[in-house]
Amino acid sequence: MRPTGAGWSQPALRRPAPWGVGRGRSGWQGGYGTRKATGRHAGEVPGLLPLVLMSALVTPPTTGARSRAELIELPPPATDGEIAVEEALAERRSVRSWARSPLALEEVSQLLWAAQGITDRRDGGRAAPSAGALYPLEIYLVATSVTGLEPGLYRYRVARRRLERTAAGELRRRLTAAAGDQDWMDRAPAALVVTGVVAWTAKRYGPWARRYVLMEVGAVAENVYLQATALGLGTTFVGAFDDEAVAELLALPAGEEPFAILPVGRRRR
Ligand SMILES: Cc1cc2nc3c(=O)[nH]c(=O)nc-3n(C[C@H](O)[C@H](O)[C@H](O)COP(=O)(O)O)c2cc1C
Repeated sequence: MRPTGAGWSQPALRRPAPWGVGRGRSGWQGGYGTRKATGRHAGEVPGLLPLVLMSALVTPPTTGARSRAELIELPPPATDGEIAVEEALAERRSVRSWARSPLALEEVSQLLWAAQGITDRRDGGRAAPSAGALYPLEIYLVATSVTGLEPGLYRYRVARRRLERTAAGELRRRLTAAAGDQDWMDRAPAALVVTGVVAWTAKRYGPWARRYVLMEVGAVAENVYLQATALGLGTTFVGAFDDEAVAELLALPAGEEPFAILPVGRRRR
């Protein structure tokens, strides 16, 4: 089955049992907004030692390969644009075909910022809301045709606004195949992949964690849709994919799951 448009239907794909949803006694623990974190990863969380220590409990130690990885500084985000949020809402559509031109690094940087960028350096607040400001999500970029970026897989390092290259080469075909061969995806110059660690949120919110993480994914996706629209780009929220195949492609550590793919490109005029 090769869905090509809004009439896509769920391909027959494997989906593993939910991972890491704890059975907390009271569930809602700690309340909201007492403290904000900037991320889950050691080295990205200046001055937030307790959260770094928590991170060590739920995420495996980073590998040597990661510490030697290539880092690309991203241009600063713009906080004004050509169109009002109401116009972006009115124009937003799922876009599955694009112009052939590559994306600029500035455009990709702006999309990543809309997805998870830090918007308040004082308290680590981000562009998308997060239950308890725990920020369990990660954003990966599968770059195929982005000016200034070698084709490959990159992880968005939120705190320092960098891309970390975690794999080189052309990965788009495998991403499309992992999404049930939705072949329109194979023409996107780039794709964002949203992943997350449910156990991170479960430490405070127990059995509600999976619901919260999925809600956060929805907020991230809408931000990306609206930012793409404002930039003359287009995306589609892809939820139909084989979890294991995407996790393998991204080399996700145990406990980190893929939740959404957002192929993106320039809208045809
Ligand atoms: C949770 C979710 C999963 C989706 N997964 C896919 C998908 O796998 N493939 C696809 O082509 N579109 C997917 N879509 C996009 C919908 O088809 C699209 O939003 C819908 O047709 C409405 O069109 P619009 O976004 O242009 O308003 C998904 C949308 C949502 C909200």
